[in-house]
Parts: sequence; C-alpha cells; structure tokens
Amino acid sequence: MNHHRRIILPIPLYMIIAIICSPHLKLAGIEFTSPKVPYQISNLSNLQTLDLASSSVVIKNTEWLSRLSSLKYLNLSYIDLSESISLLNNAVRLPSIVELHLVNCLLPNHTAKSFLSPVKNSSNSFAVLDLDSNYLPSYAIYPWLFQFNGSLTDINLSDNQLFGTIPEALGTMRNLQTLDLTNNGLEGCIPSSFSNLVSLRELRLPGNNLNQDLPSLFGYLPKRSLQVMDLYGNQISGSLPDFTKFTALKELYLGLNQLNGSFPEEFEKKSNLLILDLADNRLNGLLPDLSAFGSLLELYFERNLLNGTLAEKLAPMSNLKSLGASSNFFQGIISETHVTNLSSLVYLDLSYNSLVINISAQWSPSFQLDIISLSSCKLGDSFPGWLRTQKNFSVLDVSNTGIIDSIPSWFWESLNQGIRYLNLSSNQIHGTVPDLMSGNLPIIDMSSNNFTGYIPLFPLDTVTLMLNDNMFSGSISSLCNLTILSHLDLSKNKLSGKLPDCWKNFDRMTILNLEFNEFTGSIPDSIGALVYVSMMSMRSNSLTGELPLSLNNCTSLRLLDLGENQLAGKIPEWFGESLSTLVVLSLPSNQFNETLPTNLCSLDRLQILDLSLNKISGNIPKCLENISGMTARSPDSTIEYNAIGLERTRLTYRARYVFKALLQWKGRQSEYQKTLGLVVSIDLSSNKLSGEIPSEITSLLALVALNLSRNSLTGPIPQDIGQLRRLDFLDLSRNDLLQSFDVSSYAGNPTLCGVPLPNRCLGDDEPRSSKDKDVTEEEFDDNLINKDFYVSIVVGFAIGFWGLCGSLILKDSWRHAYFRLFDTVRDRILVTMETSFARIQRRTSLK
Ligand SMILES: *[C@@H]1O[C@H](CO)[C@@H](O)[C@H](O)[C@H]1NC(C)=O
Ligand SMILES: *[C@@H]1O[C@H](CO)[C@@H](O)[C@H](O)[C@H]1NC(C)=O
Ligand SMILES: *[C@@H]1O[C@H](CO)[C@@H](O)[C@H](O)[C@H]1NC(C)=O
Ligand SMILES: *[C@@H]1O[C@H](CO)[C@@H](O)[C@H](O)[C@H]1NC(C)=O
Ligand SMILES: *[C@@H]1O[C@H](CO)[C@@H](O)[C@H](O)[C@H]1NC(C)=O
Ligand SMILES: *[C@@H]1O[C@H](CO)[C@@H](O)[C@H](O)[C@H]1NC(C)=O
Repeated sequence: MNHHRRIILPIPLYMIIAIICSPHLKLAGIEFTSPKVPYQISNLSNLQTLDLASSSVVIKNTEWLSRLSSLKYLNLSYIDLSESISLLNNAVRLPSIVELHLVNCLLPNHTAKSFLSPVKNSSNSFAVLDLDSNYLPSYAIYPWLFQFNGSLTDINLSDNQLFGTIPEALGTMRNLQTLDLTNNGLEGCIPSSFSNLVSLRELRLPGNNLNQDLPSLFGYLPKRSLQVMDLYGNQISGSLPDFTKFTALKELYLGLNQLNGSFPEEFEKKSNLLILDLADNRLNGLLPDLSAFGSLLELYFERNLLNGTLAEKLAPMSNLKSLGASSNFFQGIISETHVTNLSSLVYLDLSYNSLVINISAQWSPSFQLDIISLSSCKLGDSFPGWLRTQKNFSVLDVSNTGIIDSIPSWFWESLNQGIRYLNLSSNQIHGTVPDLMSGNLPIIDMSSNNFTGYIPLFPLDTVTLMLNDNMFSGSISSLCNLTILSHLDLSKNKLSGKLPDCWKNFDRMTILNLEFNEFTGSIPDSIGALVYVSMMSMRSNSLTGELPLSLNNCTSLRLLDLGENQLAGKIPEWFGESLSTLVVLSLPSNQFNETLPTNLCSLDRLQILDLSLNKISGNIPKCLENISGMTARSPDSTIEYNAIGLERTRLTYRARYVFKALLQWKGRQSEYQKTLGLVVSIDLSSNKLSGEIPSEITSLLALVALNLSRNSLTGPIPQDIGQLRRLDFLDLSRNDLLQSFDVSSYAGNPTLCGVPLPNRCLGDDEPRSSKDKDVTEEEFDDNLINKDFYVSIVVGFAIGFWGLCGSLILKDSWRHAYFRLFDTVRDRILVTMETSFARIQRRTSLK
C-alpha cells in the first residue's frame, strides 16, 4: 500500500523544476497534467534523486533516462513499465546509480529479450535493487541479477515467482547486507554458501516452502552479522537450537513452521533479542528461564503445545510490550506480582490456556494495555475491576472467562473512542445493556450470556453484532440506524413483535440470523434490499404470510432457513432463477402448499433441500437430476472458502461466520456446522406428494440422506436406488410403495445394513420380528425402513470444514481504521478480510 496523496499540478513542470532547483526531485504520487514524462527532466544532468513513485506519468521510451548522468536514486514504483522494455538495463547503466526501486511495475519478464541479455557497461556503484511484486520468474531474474555480484548490497525480490531452491550463487555476493525473498515458491535448504555472507544483516524468507531442519539451517548462516532472520511461514522442521549463538540477532521470526521438541535447556549467552516469534509450531515442554532475554520487546508463542506455568517466567521481562501466549497448555495462577514489572506491556494475549488470573479489583497496574485478550482464562466470578484502570484499550476479549456478574456502569461509561472489538461472550453476565452510542465499536460479541431487557442503541459503525443466546426481549427497531452492519446474529433470544421494515438500511448485510425468537407478522418487503446477504435464517419464529417477492433480489443467498414458522402459499417459481447460489434451502414445518416449482432444479448448487412437514402436493419433479450439487460425486468444493493467506495471524478477528444447518437426522434434529459441506440431503417428508418416485432421483449420487416418508407416493421403488452409495439413510416409510428390488441392488454398499439385507447394523437392537403381535403396521413400516435401513458413513464426516467468509464490504475510511489498529502494535492484529482485500488490491492495481 502506498499512502501518497494525489495532487493535481496545474502549473507546468518546468516552473516547478525551476522552483525546486535542487538535485533532488521528489514528485511521488503526483498527478501530472500531461501524462508523458516531462522531457525537461532529461536535461537535468545534475539530478541525483528522482522519485516518481505512484505518479501519473506514462513511461514508454527510456532515452531520457540515459542523460541523467548524476542520478543515484531512481524510484518508479507503481508505474506501469510493461512497455518500457529496456528501462531496467538503461537504469543500471547510469554511471552513478546506487538505488533502484521498481515495486509493482508490471515489468516485462521473459518476453523482453533485453532482460536476459548481459548488460554492458553497467555501473559499479549499483547497490540497492528493489523489484518487489513484479511476478518475474526465476529464470529471468537470476542470470541478470548475478551480473551485479560484486556491487549489490540490498536485494528485494518479494512477491515474484522464484521457484526451486535458492541458488548457491547468491552466497557469492559478498557485500550482501539485506536479502528479501518474501512470498515466492522457494523450497529446499539455505545454500551452504550463505555462511560466507559475512555482512548479511537481514535475511527475509517468509512465505516460501523451505523445508530444512532448523539446526542445519542455522549452521549455514553467518553468526556475527545477522540482525533480522525471518523464516515465518515455511515448512521448517526440527527442534529449536540455541539461537543466542547469533550474537547480533535482534529479530527472529520462526512462526508458522513445523518446529517441534522443546526449548533448549539453557542458552549460551545473554541475548539482545528484541522480537521472538515462535507461534504456530508444535513446540512442547516448559518455557525456559527467560532471564537471558530481558531485552525482549515482543514475544510470541501462540498455538504451540507448551505447558507448565507461565507466571514467574514473565517477571524479569520488564521491557516486554507484546506477549502472545494463547492456545497452549499453560496452567497456574497469574497474580499482580507476576506482572507488576511489565510496565511497558501493551499487548497481552493469554487466551485459550488453563490460566487463572487473580488480580484484585483495587490493583492499579503500571501498564496501559491496548490489546487485552483473556478468552478462556478464569477471571473469577465478578467482572474484573482492574479494567477500570485501563483507559486506552482497543481490543477486549473476556469471553468464556467464568464471569457471573452484571457489568458495572463504569465499564460502559469508560468505553473509549478507540475501542474496536469487544467480546463478552460465553459468560453468565446478566442485567441490561445501556445505549452505547459513543465511540466506534465495529465488532461486538455479547452472545451466550444472560442479558435481559431491550436491545439498546449501538454505535453507528457497528459491523458485527452478535447478541445471540441471551434473553433480550422486545422489538429490534433500535438497530435500524446501523447502516454498515454486516453480521447480525440475534438468534435464541425472546425478541418479539413484527420485523421492522428498515432492511433497506442494511445493504452491506452478509449474515442475518434471527432464528429461535418470537417474531410475528410477515417478512417485510424491504428484506429484498439485502443484496449481499449470504446467510439468512428466521427459523422457529411465528412468521406468517407468503414469501415476499422482493426476496428474489437477495441473489447472494447461500443459506436460507425459514423453517418452523407459519409461512404459507406456493413455493415461488422465481426461487430457481433468482437464488441460483443457494446451497441450503430449508423451509420445513410451515404451511407451504401447492406443487413444487419446476425450476427448483435450476438451483444447481443446492446440497440441502428440506421442505418437510408442509402441505406440498403433486409429483416429485424429474428434473431433480439437474441439481449438480447433488449429483457430483463429491460435494462441490467451490463452496469451501478459505481465506488464510500468508499474512501473519496474531489475533484474528475475522468477519467469519460458520454456517449452521439444522437437519432432521435419523429422527433427531441435529446441528451441522463443520461437516455441513459434506451433507447432501433431500427431505420432502410429511407432505402430500403423490405419484411415483422419479427414477432420476437415483442419479443424485452425492445424496447422503433422502427422506420421502409420510407422503402418498405410489409405484415401485426405483430399481437403481442402490447406486446412491453415499446414502446414510433412506426413509420411504408411510407411503404406498411396492418393494420392487432385490437384495443384490445394494451390493455396492458394503456398509449398508439392516433388513432386508443380511448384514445386521452395529449397535442395533435385535430386529423385531414382523410376526410380533404388538407391532402395528405403521410401526413395523417404520422399523423396517427408518431404523434398520441405513448405511453408516464414517469416513466423510471426520474431515471437512466449511466456513464462510462473508464478503465484507466496507468504506474506504474503514480499511484505514483497521490499519490504524494494526499500527498500534507493529502490524500484529489481523482482520483477515481486510488484509486480503488490500493484498488483492496491491496485486491487481497500480496505484
Ligand atoms: C536539452 O538540452 C539540449 C542540448 O543541450 C537542448 O537542445 C534542448 O533544447 C534542451 N531541452 C530542454 C527542454 O531544455
Ligand atoms: C561501453 O563503454 C565503451 C567505452 O566507454 C564504449 O565504447 C561502448 O560503446 C559502451 N558500450 C555500450 C553498449 O554502451
Ligand atoms: C522488578 O524489577 C526490579 C527492578 O528492575 C527488580 O529488582 C525486581 O526483582 C523485579 N521483580 C521481579 C518479580 O522480577
Ligand atoms: C468471541 O469469543 C468466542 C469465544 O472465544 C469466539 O468463539 C467468538 O468467535 C468471538 N467472537 C468474535 C466476533 O470474534
Ligand atoms: C436438465 O438439464 C438438461 C441438460 O442441461 C436439459 O436439457 C433439461 O431440459 C433439464 N431439465 C429440466 C427439467 O430442467
Ligand atoms: C423423516 O422425516 C420424518 C418427519 O417428516 C421424521 O419423523 C423421520 O424420523 C425422518 N426419518 C429419518 C430416518 O430421519
């Protein structure tokens, strides 16, 4: 990202040059009135610095460059140079050139022969090369690069397309001080020649696939010079060697690798390390005595397997600003004495351990925290009183911390302007919530508590609001002003009254969950304004009337659950056309009647169709075979969404919501979440369907569950039904079907069990004899089909994960708000959607 402001220059450039009259010309980000490189520049033979980064110049020919004989520093970053074939070579021929910055310039790669050919008469002074984000392949870069073997000191080739191993020859660049190969596809080992790089201060290799063993990798690196070693996000294995051998080391990043084993027992030297990142590995055992690392400012070891106590290890770390310890197995009590010396602390993440935090309400700590993340620590019954002393936090997560209390009024009153994230979920907090109008609080999670009373006013820039699983009551019209709301979860409360007709305010909404409340009346027309909503559930309310026609504007819907209401009318014809992205359509237990719309089959991504317990009549449409979401051999993988990039994840406040679906499963209502992506099911049971079961249904090869019971279906059971090999259950009971197949039609289903097959189902009761006098015909029917007649799929359900990242569409000012949050602790906070958005922008646009 560049932050240059664009300035439009109405006056001719020569005037500016005349005014500046200096050997340094910095026009970065400037919008020129004429886009051509002003030819006046080419006569400035005294010019030493030329910075046109992100400006609007268009550069095609590069002859003007060759006359700038004094030029030392040239920056043309973020300018499209795809047609300036010889620019790079002309630049390195400038006799005085030292630094060349060409970030994200769409440099031509192999198509430009000149890039490959040796550069005659190149400058001996050329030292700093920055070709970040040009997507150049290894075979174009390497031969060219090694021509400057003797002179280069700093190389940045981040975000290019370097694959294969790191070339040995890099190790012959004796003057190399910084080498940045971030985000390429490099694999294998660090070449042993690297031990010759005795001036190397910074080595940055994050986001590659290096898979060396860490002790051997350390053996190849110069010990005295290295100050920054960044190997984040590789496949590096082995245990952690004594890194105090690197005597100058200040920053060491080994996060997101495959490290295992425990910490070295002792360290050779006292270290001057400032930043140590070991997060996301599999390190186990105890933390060592950290007194050799008294200089540390940032220490991260989240998501490892470390155990033992943490508290007394912290005491000597009096310079510590950031501590990330979440998701380990630490135990014990952390009390005031352990943290009293940590007066610089701003970032504290102890969440997801078994820690008890025992700090008295009266204590006044010496630190002012910015990030307070204590999820799953035990804080005691009462709301932590010491928080009263913290005036500057932007993140507070005290979810699942055992609080059984109401929230003191000083807390609400003290919520400061800078707070961005508040998570109070999964406690037993009771009482009402006052209006929270001040401040900007984009992410609020108060779910799973005992809050009562009306839904208060929330800050206008709330993006995520989760109040589910509480006892809020009354209407929800107080939310109508939250116009940038994206995720709203009010499920499982006692909310009542009509749904407000203000949905047109929420055009950024992606998740709307109102299920299990007491809403009445019809679904308002304005619901159609939610054009980005991808999940909408109003299950289990008392909604009446027909589905509003406007719903067909919600064309991003992937899950629609309106089950357990009193909705009526025909299932609309437009479903198939407008809601073509639907994956889950769940309308059970309503009063829907008439026949099924034929274009239902146009919902070709559909995986779950539940229309049970309605009054639908007519035939089952033959076109079901056209629903490719159900015919595919494995569920459509395009519905899996994984937004994990190479960004460093510290605390992740993602705009992520995992789909849930309630399904009738072998007679029980179950919630499917993680495995939902694997469930492919049709439930049309308990309706008034008649006619035959279309044989086309047997081509829905991905079906895991099919329930057509309790209808008036007649005719034979389709012969090929045994082809549905994934079927976990098939319920055809309480129809008037003829048994038309023999046992061999199930031969392809080795795990299928139950009558009429020879295999008995594991864990089943003795099958009841049909001669048993007490069994009514109906019961017998049920027993035959429901209970005894299913396959148990074991494999599929163990794996699989299906999350949904709603597309968070935010204002520009928003993005910056988040980035400001980043800056507070050295880019440590990540809002996944945000950064990936920025990243995509960076890749696709030349700003
Ligand atoms: C640049 O210098 C050349 C030769 O010294 C001269 O002919 C030309 O007019 C100059 N161009 C500008 C724009 O000053
Ligand atoms: C290289 O420099 C020599 C002498 O300075 C000159 O004769 C020759 O033309 C130059 N070559 C190129 C390709 O510029
Ligand atoms: C706190 O710091 C002081 C001075 O730096 C030191 O004497 C004391 O031992 C430290 N306390 C703990 C518990 O380490
Ligand atoms: C709040 O905390 C809970 C428990 O730690 C977590 O599951 C949930 O995702 C958090 N909410 C948000 C919005 O981040
Ligand atoms: C099913 O798809 C086939 C091929 O795409 C098409 O010809 C047929 O008309 C479709 N059937 C229905 C009922 O939509
Ligand atoms: C099929 O649906 C009916 C309700 O319509 C339910 O009672 C029955 O248990 C279901 N069958 C199975 C196997 O889940």
